[in-house]
Amino acid sequence: MTELFEGIDINGMGLENRSVRSATWMGMAEKDGRCSTRLMKRMEALARGEVGLIITGFSYVMPNGQALGGQLGIHDDVMIPNLSRLTKRVHAAHGKIAMQIVHAGVQTVMSEKRDQPVWGPSPVHNKLFGKTPKAMTQREIKETVQAFARAAERVKRAGFDAVQLHGAHGFLVSQFLSPLTNKRTDKYGGPVENRARFLFQVYRAVRKRVGKDFPVLIKLNTKDFVRGGLHERDALFVAKRLDDMGIDAIELSGGTPAAGDLGPARLKIRNADEEAYFSPFAKKIRRHVSVPIILVGGIRSLKGVHHVLKSGAADLVSMARPFIREPNLIKRWKQGDGKKAACISCNQCFGAARTAEGVHCVVERRAKTKKKRKGKSA
Ligand SMILES: Cc1cc2nc3c(=O)[nH]c(=O)nc-3n(C[C@H](O)[C@H](O)[C@H](O)COP(=O)(O)O)c2cc1C
Repeated sequence: MTELFEGIDINGMGLENRSVRSATWMGMAEKDGRCSTRLMKRMEALARGEVGLIITGFSYVMPNGQALGGQLGIHDDVMIPNLSRLTKRVHAAHGKIAMQIVHAGVQTVMSEKRDQPVWGPSPVHNKLFGKTPKAMTQREIKETVQAFARAAERVKRAGFDAVQLHGAHGFLVSQFLSPLTNKRTDKYGGPVENRARFLFQVYRAVRKRVGKDFPVLIKLNTKDFVRGGLHERDALFVAKRLDDMGIDAIELSGGTPAAGDLGPARLKIRNADEEAYFSPFAKKIRRHVSVPIILVGGIRSLKGVHHVLKSGAADLVSMARPFIREPNLIKRWKQGDGKKAACISCNQCFGAARTAEGVHCVVERRAKTKKKRKGKSA
């Protein structure tokens, strides 16, 4: 039986335990995408908190693929010096860190600010983002594939332990995978083999650049939970092929912003039964692949963690929101305080990412301010 505090080796990357900090956009990068000192501090705190593997927030591989403000960039060599400082600090704190790389496609809020059209596989209107992307030409697809590869090489040069491709949550790779957003009639559209071609080209180009000994991970949706979107069956096909092609680990998630309540970060997880909401799908996929599976989505308690690891849903457990409130959660559990994560899954941290301060737990902050006020008036 796998335990949380059992180590694992992922293509030479030795992890102390089975916990992962899932990629979290912190809204704290410099305006030009460089890593800031305060972001370094937050990552270092996670390492001190004994998270097995830290994954950075999604980092754009091309300026026209930037989703949001305060997002990390990996589109240019000028990003490397600060990222090297980040990886050194995390390593000095005995942590391991991967960088997640992305092109946002239609889900970019920034492109229009740069007077650039939003890219996507097909001109399918996205209601939520209020825009219709320009269908990418085959030349633009090639350009983007190469941008992913160059970005991955920078990740390696900056001293990261691994790179993670963002293939989930409705961003560009996921837009290509989904029959709802990919209506192409060329070799990139139609059956799943074609819709996955862009992703497979990205993976191959990345692998070629970083070599066979550098861990390459992916975050994939089990299902989009949107009518007409990526289906479980197709997700299984993609996972199996990536496994055959040599991917080193697959993090399973689900949903897109259009999925509403069934999105990636669901609300109100009240008990262990509501935790790990993608585990039924993860179990099906894990049965068919040999690479380690990382499961994210609503994991909150030691009971939940053990259930995921014992039930065969995954080899590692990944969390995002709980670590915003408690970067030391894993260490706390290890030291014997087994209380579940304090995070109440209210998603107010998303709003906080847009403030000057960046991501923090709004509930915790409010409670602290209230206490302070009370203390003063007493
Ligand atoms: C503030 C915030 C930022 C996020 N940024 C990213 C991101 O950059 N990349 C990504 O793949 N997922 C991102 N997510 C989704 C999480 O990684 C995770 O999949 C989701 O929150 C479910 O896990 P949880 O229940 O442990 O929070 C973000 C979530 C939050 C709350």
